[in-house]
Amino acid sequence: MDKIKKSYKNSKNIYDRVLTQGSFWSRLYIRLFWGGVDDNKIAGDVLSRIPDDFSGRLLDVPVGTAVFTQDKYKKLKNADIVCLDYSEDMLELAAQRLSGLDNISLVQGDVGSLPYQNESFDIVLSMNGFHAFPDKERAFPEVYRVLKVGGRLIACFYIKGRSHMTDSLVKHILAPKGWFTPPFETEESLKARLSADYNITAFDTDGPMVWFCAEKR
Ligand SMILES: C[S@@+](CC[C@H](N)C(=O)[O-])C[C@H]1O[C@@H](n2cnc3c(N)ncnc32)[C@H](O)[C@@H]1O
Repeated sequence: MDKIKKSYKNSKNIYDRVLTQGSFWSRLYIRLFWGGVDDNKIAGDVLSRIPDDFSGRLLDVPVGTAVFTQDKYKKLKNADIVCLDYSEDMLELAAQRLSGLDNISLVQGDVGSLPYQNESFDIVLSMNGFHAFPDKERAFPEVYRVLKVGGRLIACFYIKGRSHMTDSLVKHILAPKGWFTPPFETEESLKARLSADYNITAFDTDGPMVWFCAEKR
């Protein structure tokens, strides 16, 4: 876990530019290693599943720097939003972005041990998290536990087996550095895992990325 904190601390200043393809180098990196996948588009698809008049309780884990969510959260005036992340450094940047929004609280914590009661959220949003979480066998059950029946898990993350180039980058660089943590889901393993507990209402892939919306049964 300390490796994760350290890797996100070291990358916090370049993180947003890489994910949002805000520079020539990040566009080149995404094109070469991620098949040109557009994280901005995936974020848009994911966030479109949350109506702007949503008035329930939403857990965003991991919030990261809130680079994709800040604009959406400004519209969700009636929602009660909890943003959790393990890295204080990422939370610090999120806090700057989300300052002044008093329906949002920021919490340092571990997805594998969420400090919330059973069935206490209507939505769990998890963008680019599950490929980073060190203990998926705790993370998936925790997310399931805190969701209400009929509540939705809306997520996107890297899945392996769809691009040799990306799989190799993840194996040889991103995982050893601590940005990603194996084991990784494949499209098939993820569908099987979700189907056991959720009704999948949307599921799409873009290169080595998946996004989905799944309703807790
Ligand atoms: C790739 S970032 C994604 C952040 C944001 N959702 C986004 O899409 O930009 C992954 C985040 O997962 C966080 N993280 C890693 N392990 C975690 C854990 N066990 N519990 C909570 N957050 C964790 C990291 O600190 C990092 O901020």
